[in-house]
Amino acid sequence: MATKHIAIFASGSGSNALKFLEYFDDREDIKVSLIVTNKRRAGVLEHAKKYDVPTLRIDRPFFYDSQAILDVLKSEHIDLIVLAGFLWLIPPYLVDAYPNKIINIHPALLPKYGGKGMYGQHVHKAVKENNETESGMTIHFVNQKFDEGLHIFQAKCALDPEDSADDIARKVLVLEHKNYARVVDELLSK
Ligand code: GAR
Repeated sequence: MATKHIAIFASGSGSNALKFLEYFDDREDIKVSLIVTNKRRAGVLEHAKKYDVPTLRIDRPFFYDSQAILDVLKSEHIDLIVLAGFLWLIPPYLVDAYPNKIINIHPALLPKYGGKGMYGQHVHKAVKENNETESGMTIHFVNQKFDEGLHIFQAKCALDPEDSADDIARKVLVLEHKNYARVVDELLSK
């Protein structure tokens, strides 16, 4: 069976990307073959170095005014793009080139707390302000609108009234680390 290759796009601390690198480390059938980031000092670059995975740093003109990333993805034989804390909207040419092959994780129970500007702490603060009794994470396909693609998997956690936004973030991140690579594995192994 041909090996399937994943590209991870990440711009934050890269903790989800690290989980993918660990999860698929000893696999021959599925590999993390490229890490893409728009940050010069993204934590994910350190993780990529440790696991010897090639990296690509992009800026807005490269990503939005050219389609050169398609050549890089092709040369690494990328089958699936996994967004893990990547906050730029995916341009139409890339969505079209990878139909139902771009996946995102969002730190809330979509369709609640999604859309432009809703990321990271902004999400958890809004959840806290609305006195929600639960939150969670959503893994979904990416289309041309923020957080509106078809859902693949959701997991929930209960919230206590005294949980701070940071506490909520921690609970949600546990769910992300537990599920994201596993769900992608299932999807690719189908
Ligand atoms: C994750 O919590 C992810 O759900 C969120 O960014 C964090 C990245 O953490 N993504 C979004 O908010 C997308 N709208 P990480 O860099 O430690 O993996």
